[in-house]
Amino acid sequence: MTDADRPAPDSSSTQDTEGFFPVSPLMIRNWSKGRFALYLRQGNSYVLYTSKGDAFTDAHRRKLDDMGVLLVYVDGAERGAYASYLLENLPDLLLDENIPMEQRGEAWYQASLMALRRVFEERLPKGLAKRRFAEISEMLRTGMDFFSRNGALKQVARMVSRGYKSYHHSLGCAVLTYFVCAGSPKVDPERLHAVCLGALLHDLGKTLVPQDILDRDPETLPLGEREKLRAHAAAGVALCAHLPMERETVNCILLHHERVDGSGYPAGVPGEVQPFYVKALAVCDTYDNLTRPAPWRPARTPYEALRYMKMHKDCFDVDAMRRLISVLSGAEVPTQ
Ligand SMILES: [Fe+2]
Ligand SMILES: [Fe+2]
Repeated sequence: MTDADRPAPDSSSTQDTEGFFPVSPLMIRNWSKGRFALYLRQGNSYVLYTSKGDAFTDAHRRKLDDMGVLLVYVDGAERGAYASYLLENLPDLLLDENIPMEQRGEAWYQASLMALRRVFEERLPKGLAKRRFAEISEMLRTGMDFFSRNGALKQVARMVSRGYKSYHHSLGCAVLTYFVCAGSPKVDPERLHAVCLGALLHDLGKTLVPQDILDRDPETLPLGEREKLRAHAAAGVALCAHLPMERETVNCILLHHERVDGSGYPAGVPGEVQPFYVKALAVCDTYDNLTRPAPWRPARTPYEALRYMKMHKDCFDVDAMRRLISVLSGAEVPTQ
């Protein structure tokens, strides 16, 4: 009898209907030593299918298919192990043509949701998490629909494959930009999703920039390499050219390094002609970058990052800065 044929032992049956969550067997890569146990649902019980440490192979997947089992379950207590597994394997999962598009979209959503929890826990005031987590989850759900419907998962896979840190930065920017823009009379609420999608994809073009350039202080790069780095804004738009992007999404990707005093790139567009949501993203992107460690400097504290930005205040929109500070202090962001 192979592992796949092994009946689930009764002693592992559990009546707990609370903590288990469903996963498609297609989302589990073949492994020789499982990182978490997989269960089958039988009525209100969950019975062990493969233990943590067991193999999971094509034979297991075929057996499940023969039994007509579309979902296996993971114990909620192992959510952390599942999250790490998902993030590590996300680029492969997103590009796996054998997995239906909706399931790949769901994998992206689940992985992003877990990363989002970390953004909230580690980088935002506690009160904010309670009030606003559902809104942001909804925004991600819309993103998932977009990526799945439009075959854009390849671009997401590109971004994720550059490592968890840069993906975490993209999510961090999307969350902060959402909070800074939500309720602002300068941003149409109907366009907020398109803005957040742009914030999520803003650095997509960096996937075309050699890693050794990204690993060095931009201020110290020779001109040729600095140009390559700066090309990432336009390159990001080119990578998405085949997708039905909203204007706001494209503007976020193309203009996130523009500055209010006209000192930014790619075009040196002054603040008067930049949409507010672009200026909000520029503020959030800079803050998020400063508060993360870079290969050439340690992370700044939130206070140090804001002080640095105030020293360069001509670059940033006053209202966007004020709203970011409100978000970070846990205060209600003004709606007027
Ligand atoms: Fe960028
Ligand atoms: Fe960025």
